Amino acid sequence: MTPPARRTSLTGIKPTGVPHLGNYVGAIRPAIELAREYDAFYFIADYHALTTVRDPDELDHFTRSVAATWLACGLDPAAVTLYRQSDVPETFELQWVLSCMTAKGLMNRAHAYKAARDRNREAGVDEDDGVSMGLYNYPVLMAADIIVMAADVVPVGRDQVQHVEYARDIAERFNLAYGERFALPLPEHVTPSEEDGDTLPGLDGRKMSKSYGNTIPLFEDATRTRKLVRRMKTDSTPVEDPKDPDTSALFALYRQFAGAADQQALRERMLAGGMGWGQLKDLVADVLEETLASPRERYRELMDDRAQLDGILAAGAERARARAAGLVSSVRAAIGIG
Ligand code: TRP
Repeated sequence: MTPPARRTSLTGIKPTGVPHLGNYVGAIRPAIELAREYDAFYFIADYHALTTVRDPDELDHFTRSVAATWLACGLDPAAVTLYRQSDVPETFELQWVLSCMTAKGLMNRAHAYKAARDRNREAGVDEDDGVSMGLYNYPVLMAADIIVMAADVVPVGRDQVQHVEYARDIAERFNLAYGERFALPLPEHVTPSEEDGDTLPGLDGRKMSKSYGNTIPLFEDATRTRKLVRRMKTDSTPVEDPKDPDTSALFALYRQFAGAADQQALRERMLAGGMGWGQLKDLVADVLEETLASPRERYRELMDDRAQLDGILAAGAERARARAAGLVSSVRAAIGIG
């Protein structure tokens, strides 16, 4: 008897910058973890990045940077299908079919579009000022990414949950019309818990995010990383006073990278008092360096070896396309375009 097929996990990262610690802790590390139990499809959402990145060299650089980051962080390309979204053109065919099943009103309520419209209203300009159809249709393309691989679970940060729910709604709409001929699987989101570092603080103490400009890049060199850690915001608690690990951004960073015993030891030292923020920053920089030194080397090697990276992505594209082609051909048959 053949064992039941493993369920599929899928996620994408948009190449709009070089990955930072927040991406690693909140997205990359949990997705790699999930790949042990699932048949995983992880990709670089290069066409999604086109909504904002207009420099072709930058788009190419960020795309390779995201791919090299996945690999340097331990993704095994033999076990996980790693590919570029643009290498699976079936996605864009499916996007059209899905957009015909998608209520325009649903898109009007999408967070990113709504936020752009609210900003425009506040500024007293036309509410669609600066809004491209790419931004507007973004959720449908994301639904196509998910559905084209028949994904069961989609690991994402909390800011992307609405998009995965939309993908599910859109698949349901398709199923309502064609489900008897061919039913799409309904995807579910999985989000990292707070302990997993979903809200890793950045330099200013707010959630680490490219849009706040408060990030620490994952594979910056050691000296520069240490400098950035030294810039982490702290308060004016004197050295000798106890410090609360549970409200400290530095401790929040530390615990994502240190083992349980080290975490406990640092927690006790902070509560005992006598430890200054400077010293704490050094410990954080040390644990980062311990964790990241060897992946950083692998990252640089991949960034310097275009052929190697291209080869891995080409192999991933082939597997991803084969799966997508199967799905799109069932969809075509179901809708009467054989
Ligand atoms: N929109 C996601 C983000 O900005 C990236 C993405 C694109 C994605 N397609 C996806 C994530 C499909 C999960 C599944 O983070």
